[in-house]
Parts: sequence; C-alpha cells; structure tokens
Amino acid sequence: MSWLCPLCHSPLLQVTNSYRCINGHQFDVAKEGYLNLLPVQHKRSKEPGDNGEMIQARRAFLDAGHYQPLRDTISQVLASLSVQTLLDIGCGEGYYTGTFGEIARESYGLDVSKIAIRYAAKRYRNAHFCVASSQRLPFADNSMDAIVRIFAPCNATELARVVKPGGVVITATPGPRHLLQFKELIYSHAELHHEELEDMPHFELKQTLQPAWTMELTGNQAATLLQMTPFAWRARQEVWQQLEQSALFVCETDFVVRVWEKRAEPITERQAVK
Ligand SMILES: C[S@@+](CC[C@H](N)C(=O)[O-])C[C@H]1O[C@@H](n2cnc3c(N)ncnc32)[C@H](O)[C@@H]1O
Ligand SMILES: [Zn+2]
Repeated sequence: MSWLCPLCHSPLLQVTNSYRCINGHQFDVAKEGYLNLLPVQHKRSKEPGDNGEMIQARRAFLDAGHYQPLRDTISQVLASLSVQTLLDIGCGEGYYTGTFGEIARESYGLDVSKIAIRYAAKRYRNAHFCVASSQRLPFADNSMDAIVRIFAPCNATELARVVKPGGVVITATPGPRHLLQFKELIYSHAELHHEELEDMPHFELKQTLQPAWTMELTGNQAATLLQMTPFAWRARQEVWQQLEQSALFVCETDFVVRVWEKRAEPITERQAVK
C-alpha cells in the first residue's frame, strides 16, 4: 500500500482498522473497505462528484455490457505491459477497476464521489478504493506503473508525479462520432465532436486506438445512457418522451484510447491546488 496523508503528504500506515501518518492524522476504513481521504477543507461542495441516481444509472448501463469493447481494449493494452500497480482515477462504481484488478498485482480506484466508491468497494474486492480528488492524488511519487482515466477529470502534474518513469497513463475520451445520434435528437445541427490533444508534459504519446461500434438500445436503455452524458441537461421533455416510447434506438460509440509513457527524467514537484 502506498497511501499518502492528504493533509501532510506523509505515508499512511495501517493500525488495525484505520490509517495514520506520523503527524497523528487518522483515516478510518469504512465498513465496505474503502478509505475516505477527502478532508472537508478540500471539498468544493457537500457531496462532490456523481450522485446516487447517476451512479445507479451508470451501473445498470455498464452491467448490460454496452461498453464492454472499451473495457476489453484497455485491458488488452494493460495485459501487454508489465503492470504491478495501477490506479483508475474517476473510477465511478468500479466497472473498469474490477477488471483491471485481475490484470495488475495491486489495483486502486479513486473517485471524489463517496456513493460511487461505496458501490465500487462493496462489489469489487480485488481493488482498493478511496474517496479523493484527482487534483491531489493520495499516493507516493513514482508509485504507479499505470494510471487509467476514463471520461474523468485529472491534473497532469499529479499524473506525472505519481506514475513511475517508463510507466503509462491510459486515457479514454470521446471520438468525433461518439453518441452522435443523441446530438441529432437534441440539436438542429449535430456537429462532430472535436477534442484538442491533451497537454501531457513529461509524457510521450505511444499508441492511439479508436474502438467504435454501434449499440442497439431499448428506449429505456437509451434514456439511461443519455442521463449519463453532458447532453442530458439540454434534452427537452419531448426528447425524453420520444426515447422512452421507442422500441429500438441505434447509437454509435466512438472512443479514443491513448497510451502515454512517462519519460525517464525524475519529477517530484507537487502542484499546489487551492
Ligand atoms: C463520466 S464519470 C466516469 C466514471 C467511470 N470512469 C466510468 O467510465 O464509468 C466521471 C467520474 O469522475 C468523478 N469525478 C468528478 N470530478 C472528480 C475529481 N475531481 N476527482 C475524482 N473524481 C472525480 C465523478 O464522480 C464520476 O464518477
Ligand atoms: Zn498527515
């Protein structure tokens, strides 16, 4: 275990059912087995991250296997590398982390949403979970062989600090045609999605994969998926009704998976986040 105290950045050591640093900060292990390393002074709202309804919707959708090809693509990349320690940031309810736990020797999942981590820790016993922000990773410098980031925010400086030299960051982001059919329902001119290549100082882009497939969804499944997307708040009432009444909704996925390798130069800086 390589947890760091979120308050003073000293290593945390397990003492029965809690973790403590040399400065006396203490964090109890929850009954589901996760650690809450998000001190109240680092919270930006009372319940940050995805709420219970969003987490339940995501779990139902992912459990139905609709995004399994994405999970398989990333798992294949990880299996081709020698990954001992892995961190999934913004892991949500743990669908991907649970599978990565079968590939890496030690897997960690981190999310700012406590309810998401509770769901993840309860179901996936092969990974360690914590409530924390990806802006301040509670892990030692150069401690992870791989960090995975699937549709989740990150702090590039923190990624560079925590990944070992020669280790990787794997990102999954939307490609141009991702969920285009939702946009066609919502906007009069549906445009292809264009995303700038992220700025990843200290890393070199090694591989780009573009898994894409077509999903055949029931109206209810489509409504659940729409709820998981940023388009949800733009959808008018008629759109939700139309989806719920349709027997079949055919929708494209289009993902971009990038593998970034950390260069060998040492990095120890920690970005101060207000
Ligand atoms: C779109 S969801 C993706 C979840 C998961 N990776 C998946 O694909 O199923 C984004 C996740 O990032 C989490 N999140 C948002 N801001 C975060 C932050 N600053 N640090 C860590 N997690 C964050 C949310 O709670 C949510 O679970
Ligand atoms: Zn401390």
